[in-house]
Amino acid sequence: MDVILTAAVTVNGMIARHPTEVVDWSEDLQLFREQTIGQTVVMGSNTESTLATELDGREVVVMHRDMDPETVISQTKTEKCFIIGGAQTYSRFSLYLTHIFLTNHPYIFPSDSLTLFSNLEKEISLSYIRKVAIDKALGIYQFQYRVMRVD
Ligand SMILES: NC(=O)c1ccc[n+]([C@@H]2O[C@H](COP(=O)([O-])OP(=O)(O)OC[C@H]3O[C@@H](n4cnc5c(N)ncnc54)[C@H](OP(=O)(O)O)[C@@H]3O)[C@@H](O)[C@H]2O)c1
Repeated sequence: MDVILTAAVTVNGMIARHPTEVVDWSEDLQLFREQTIGQTVVMGSNTESTLATELDGREVVVMHRDMDPETVISQTKTEKCFIIGGAQTYSRFSLYLTHIFLTNHPYIFPSDSLTLFSNLEKEISLSYIRKVAIDKALGIYQFQYRVMRVD
């Protein structure tokens, strides 16, 4: 099964200005829907509280601190399991990722913003797969990577 981190990131690798920000600057929502429909999506409780709409047509798992990432993955019944944020949830699943999909956005947020991983102890080596155009005029693409090694 594929375990795919998907995120909208700024040029300096941030995913939100603060933990309660509603991310309304992401341009890849249509692609996000196409990729996740019929699959499992896993998010943290902070992210759930920022969502404006229901993620219909998907198996939704909301992570809490007492839940074990490995168990969540082992109980997934769909072909793909998308880890959709936020920073604490990306961190908790970092050892189990098979793919990383990042969509770059033309912003730079201050350094006290949320980085992609709030806490990461291992280095992750990636292999580039492809890029998918979101908005060519704005230079926004989703970059897809395969996780090669975590060490
Ligand atoms: N740019 C993007 O693509 C993107 C994607 C997703 C989210 N976001 C943004 O990211 C922000 C939220 O990210 P976040 O990192 O703050 O939260 P999060 O990952 O969405 O949720 C926090 C998670 O951490 C757990 N947690 C809290 N304290 C903990 C502790 N001491 N030990 C272990 N686990 C703990 C929470 O469990 P409990 O429920 O038990 O507290 C919850 O599972 C929002 O602004 C959202 O809009 C951006």
